[in-house]
Amino acid sequence: MNPSTIQTNDQDRALTDFPTLLLAPPLPVVSDGLSARVSVHKLYEAADPEAELARIAPTIKAVISGASAPKVDAALLKRLPNLKLVSNYGVGYDTVDTAYASENGIIVTHTPDVLTDEVADLAMGLLIATVRRIPQADRYLRAGHWEDKPFPFSASLREKSMGILGLGRIGMAIAKRAEAFGLKLAYHSRTQKPDAPWPYYASLIEMARDVDILMVIAPGGPQTYHLVNTEVLHALGASGTLINVARGSLVDEQALTTALQTGTLGAAGLDVFEDEPRVSETLRGLDNCVLLPHVGSASHYTRNKMGQLVVENVLAMAEGKAPLTPVPETPYKG
Ligand code: NAP
Ligand code: 8YV
Repeated sequence: MNPSTIQTNDQDRALTDFPTLLLAPPLPVVSDGLSARVSVHKLYEAADPEAELARIAPTIKAVISGASAPKVDAALLKRLPNLKLVSNYGVGYDTVDTAYASENGIIVTHTPDVLTDEVADLAMGLLIATVRRIPQADRYLRAGHWEDKPFPFSASLREKSMGILGLGRIGMAIAKRAEAFGLKLAYHSRTQKPDAPWPYYASLIEMARDVDILMVIAPGGPQTYHLVNTEVLHALGASGTLINVARGSLVDEQALTTALQTGTLGAAGLDVFEDEPRVSETLRGLDNCVLLPHVGSASHYTRNKMGQLVVENVLAMAEGKAPLTPVPETPYKG
């Protein structure tokens, strides 16, 4: 038997020596896929997580992270001296300290591509719901108001322009859908994209001035923190619409709330928030925004694909192979 392979006692199947730490309850596809091949430590089930972490930390070789799991910051990484891999459930990995990982030879993987179309669909759905006030119309009918008078006319997507902040995998998929809806497009990112036929703005505020809709779909983290601030919201204007399907941290939520309250911004559709899952009472009370509980990729189909990729990355590393989808900050060098 390979010395790195051990035998389980209870079930007669080979376990690879790659103990993996789970910080939050995973999907069955993740827990089943992992526990068939590696030993799994469910920290969230421990009576005393701190004591349990101290006990198992030296053995741990992989950690599963995610947007709604505890942060994998330098403080946690320093406690795991034999860590080889952080396998992130999600394409955005702003909860993982990639600088520490890179300096210490730890690979970080994520789940790009498998969720692109799902998130782009949701972004367009949220845009249409926000502009045409679909949830408000639903609430109007349910409250019995239709019997008194028709629901008021809404704004329209006709003859409108949309600026995309972050023309990456998902931004591009949104752009293709938006073109089919007849929207005039522009985009802002740090670099101009050779394959993009739409006008490029090096300045976000200039783009916000020129468009009716701002679609936010760039990564979270310190580099994009509060990119959408009071000035950008004012530039978008009283008839403008903000859609954020990226991370709450990209938008100054207090400034956004004020802009929606005072009418300096027309409307907003938000799938992500600064302090998830908490959303302020003030925002929840406003009628000119549509609020979703971070469901961009949350279909059974896509979440299972993401979970499968999380597992495949762990098993590849456990078997000494290259991980499938490392993040650019921690390339696999063999
Ligand atoms: P991606 O392919 O890496 O695209 C990111 C885009 O953002 C690139 O065009 C990049 O271009 C741009 N960008 C990066 N930093 C920027 C900055 N400082 N200023 C302006 N633009 C910047 O990523 P993706 O797969 O499309 O995913 C994008 C993000 O969506 C993820 O990171 C995640 O946070 C979020 N997301 C949310 C959900 C949800 O459920 N709501 C689901 C999936 C993903 P440059 O490098 O040229 O700047
Ligand atoms: C999360 C997301 O993965 O992929 C991302 O970046 O935001 C979502 O798909 C989801 O919230 C689970 O953590």
